[in-house]
Formats: sequence, structure tokens, C-alpha cells
Amino acid sequence: MMHPNRISWALAMAAGLLIAVPFAALAQSSHSAEEHSGHEHGHQHDHQIAEHDTDYRHHTGEHDFSDAEEWAARFDSPERAAWQKPAAVAEMMAIEPGMTVVDLGAGTGYFLPYLSKAAGDGGKVLALDPEADMIRFISERARREKLGNVEARQIPFDDPELAAASVDRVLIVNTWHHIGERADYAKKLLAALKPGGRVYIVDFDRDSPSGPPVQERLEPELVIGELLGGGLQAEMVKEELPRQYVVVGQGSR
Ligand SMILES: C[S@@+](CC[C@H](N)C(=O)[O-])C[C@H]1O[C@@H](n2cnc3c(N)ncnc32)[C@H](O)[C@@H]1O
Repeated sequence: MMHPNRISWALAMAAGLLIAVPFAALAQSSHSAEEHSGHEHGHQHDHQIAEHDTDYRHHTGEHDFSDAEEWAARFDSPERAAWQKPAAVAEMMAIEPGMTVVDLGAGTGYFLPYLSKAAGDGGKVLALDPEADMIRFISERARREKLGNVEARQIPFDDPELAAASVDRVLIVNTWHHIGERADYAKKLLAALKPGGRVYIVDFDRDSPSGPPVQERLEPELVIGELLGGGLQAEMVKEELPRQYVVVGQGSR
């Protein structure tokens, strides 16, 4: 027979569970509500990402970008141009005809028409993303929009797999915060830059009305520190993006 002390302990546990379970459910549902409140990551499928798939969750910050068509509605929405200013971003990068330009975390390819035009027929745009469906979507988009200098490549989460000293410009929009071990990643970017090459990181201000959940947003000073940690020189760029900052990194001059 159970000792009376154990019985009261068991009763206390059961009572605790009765209280804790509904609270946990409530917390879970309010988290979902935040994610669906118009943030960049509102449209996601956490339930489809297996709990045990820790590698995936680590590298993507728990966000599932595996369905390009679903994300295209958000990434390519016409309203985005007003604050994203893609033509101004491409202009800021001072891309010259013939350059090799990388769009890292290219997603549905929102920036590709602008980068492709700036690099010209003699240049090349490498659209990199870890998601196979994004690569499919980008390849179809490049064919449809006749972006002949665009090449889409699937990459691992921790490596852009770029040849040494092979690229002039790297654009990373709304993606840096998804990358793990960012100083190590920066080292790989530095190795891929040609002399005079530059990396542009564009990401959301803390007070932007859109973007990832606030706790996932990176302060520009942190991004600068991560690039410095990878051996790049880095500073903020003066720009006119209403919701975002831009950090530029380059090898030593
Ligand atoms: C918010 S989307 C941004 C897409 C695009 N840059 C844009 O501005 O429309 C983030 C993209 O980063 C990709 N991504 C996630 N983790 C990544 C990683 N470790 N390395 C490179 N890309 C990553 C995702 O697959 C997704 O396509």
C-alpha cells in the first residue's frame, strides 16, 4: 500500500498537472497568435517541423521556408516595394556590369530582377538558398522573366559554398538572423570575396511594424561585431529604408 506521504505527493502532482496543462496550452496559442499577427514569419508550419529535427530548427530559427508558393504571396507582395525599395538597395550596392553578385537566402527571388539588370549580360547572379523549393521557384522565375544571368543553387545551412575570391557583391536581405554561427559564416563570405568585394546585410529595425518577432531581430551593432569576428571590416550604411538598416562588410583595404 502507498505511504500516506506519497499519496499526498501524488495528489499534489495531479493537481499541478491539472493547472499547468491548460496554462501551457494558453501560452502555446498566444505564441501562435503573435506569429500570425502580420510578422514576416506569421505564415509558418511549426507543427510540420518534427520536434526532433534540431538541426533544421537551429539553422532556420524554427521557420519553415520549404513552400515557395506560400511565401511568394508575402515576399513578392506589391506593397513591399514601398518600404523595401529594391531598386535603391541595388543602386546602393554599386554593382558594375560584368560583376558576380550573390543573393544569399534569395527566397522567391524578389531582388533578382534588380541584381540581374545591374550585373548585365556579362555578369552573373548566384541565387543561393537552402530550400529546394525556393531553388525550383527561382529557376522558373528566371526563365519566365528572362533573367539569363541568374543561376540558382541550393546550399547547406552553414556554408554558401562559394569558390575563393570569386564574387564582387553579396546581398543578404532578411536572412542574416536565420544563420547560425554567424562569425564563422562571415569568414566564409570573406574568403569568397574578390579584392574590393562587399557584403550588404539588410535587416529589420527593432521598431519596424513588419519583420520577424522582435526577439529575433538583430541590432546592427551585433551584426557589425559578427562581421568583424569573421575578419571583415564593417560599418552601417546611410540609407533611406524606413524599416531596415544596412550593414556593409568588406575585406581589409
Ligand atoms: C525571410 S526570407 C528572405 C528572402 C529574400 N532574401 C527576400 O528578401 O525576399 C529568408 C530566406 O533565407 C533562407 N535561409 C534560411 N536559413 C538560411 C541559411 N542558413 N543560409 C542561407 N539562407 C537561409 C530561407 O530559406 C529563406 O528563403
